[in-house]
Amino acid sequence: MDRIQTAVSAGLLVSVVVIFWLNRRKGPQIPGPPAHPLVGHTFRVPKVKTWKYFEDLWHQYGSIVKVTLAGDDIVVLSDPADAEELLGRRSKIYSSRRPLVYAGKYLSNNMRLTLLPYGENLKRQRAAFHSMLQPRVIGGYEEVQYKTSLQLLVNLAKDPDNYYTHYPRFPASLIFILSFADQLAEDGKDLAAVQKVLMDFVTAANPGAHLVDTFPVLDWLPDIVSAWRKEAKKGHEETLDLYGRLARNVKARMEADPELECFTARLWEQKEKMNLTDEELYYISGSAYAAGTDTSSITLLWFVMAMALYPEAQKKAQAEVDSFFDAHTLPNFERMKDMPYVLALIKEVIRWSPIAPLSFPHYLDADDYYKGYFIKKGTTVISSLWNMHHTEEEYPDSYNFVPERFLSKERGPEDPADSISEGIYGFGFGRRRCPGQHLAAKSTWIVVVRTLWAFRIEPGKDANGNPVKLDVDDCTNGLTSRPHKFPCDFIPRSATHLETIMAGEGRS
Ligand code: HEM
Repeated sequence: MDRIQTAVSAGLLVSVVVIFWLNRRKGPQIPGPPAHPLVGHTFRVPKVKTWKYFEDLWHQYGSIVKVTLAGDDIVVLSDPADAEELLGRRSKIYSSRRPLVYAGKYLSNNMRLTLLPYGENLKRQRAAFHSMLQPRVIGGYEEVQYKTSLQLLVNLAKDPDNYYTHYPRFPASLIFILSFADQLAEDGKDLAAVQKVLMDFVTAANPGAHLVDTFPVLDWLPDIVSAWRKEAKKGHEETLDLYGRLARNVKARMEADPELECFTARLWEQKEKMNLTDEELYYISGSAYAAGTDTSSITLLWFVMAMALYPEAQKKAQAEVDSFFDAHTLPNFERMKDMPYVLALIKEVIRWSPIAPLSFPHYLDADDYYKGYFIKKGTTVISSLWNMHHTEEEYPDSYNFVPERFLSKERGPEDPADSISEGIYGFGFGRRRCPGQHLAAKSTWIVVVRTLWAFRIEPGKDANGNPVKLDVDDCTNGLTSRPHKFPCDFIPRSATHLETIMAGEGRS
């Protein structure tokens, strides 16, 4: 009996010591809403407008909040200073992505840049991306930006009701030409194929889309009972067929024309130096399209909504554009540095409605301590761009669209391609920061300036001729969020503007 008592006491003592040690190691808990003992916050965090839920938590619990979903810790940052410290200065351990069995391992064969864990592969792919998208080479893409943005104006002039399709078509054609030095086929087949690859991937990467990502142990089961694996591998084959065909086509044309200029041609030239396999090269050249089209088109759709809702801002920007370009002259990049209001307006669009309100989640590769809190390896770290952009101290009256907040008298002329992200956080943080920022800045700029030059944007009218009330909260859910189609009129600013647009059809 004595021996049993001694063993029980020893066991209790060990348990107490272990619990004490674990708690001491963990330190104080990151604040957050009360969790269910078994499922944590799994049924509390809504799938719809999740950023709004995190906004409530921010106001209730402060700028670092933790929730637990299906056993995984999620830390949400709402103060840019914390994101800069963790995702920026400590980026060595905060730059991974959550491993996804379906979308990462099988659908992408561990090659898709946006999902790569932090490490050598990511560094090589980002370096390759940088060689296509660095500021020095972006200047060479202006002709294509002129051509595709003019086509957008023509489409808007001819068929304004379909603006919701025309705006996304702009980055799709632009990035397709830049990536493969080829026009999107008129029959829409290429566009449909790349959109399908993109949609399959985005759907598969959505949290909760596949059970195996909640319970990775399911990956141990054989193929015979894992139909999902076959489906994912088939998706990878389809992606490779498409991206491979497009990239090999560029290579064949390079033989006939060594001067051929496009992202993929650059990749083929540097393939050996960058130590890329064919398959990696296909994925990288296809990734520009995947990562650049949705993001750019969403920014433009929010711009249209902002203009319809805030006519005063629209008029001020038009006055600035008109001071450099008359009705006979299509705007170009020459006066880019001379338009502070337009630059401020673009920044305000990205601040007011960030395309990815919760950015793209990062993943922590090692245990860490921050501000006394223990953050364990394997935590997903989300920077809520939505909350950061609605900090009243930094952006007073933050729900209103006020480009003036970015006008600074002290600053000299600014190059939007360099400074578009100054004062906002819409391109993310640290080593996973958007590598397409410069291209995005110039493409957005030319479309914004040309649209403002050509059209007055107004909310659509109801049957009685009254303007329809637009709702900024009527938007899609998911990693990115765009406004649902809203009634909107594009009224040519004069017959001469219209003539100038139509005269340019087919050229830049
Ligand atoms: C206005 C347009 C754009 C916005 C607002 C935007 C924003 C973002 C954001 C917030 C991220 C996540 C950063 C992070 O994980 O911390 C990101 C990542 C990325 N963006 Fe953009 N982006 C835009 C356009 C583009 C374009 C035009 C391209 C390429 C042609 C591009 C390529 C990428 C890639 C490849 C990543 C993933 C980087 C990685 O995982 O390491 N983006 N972008």
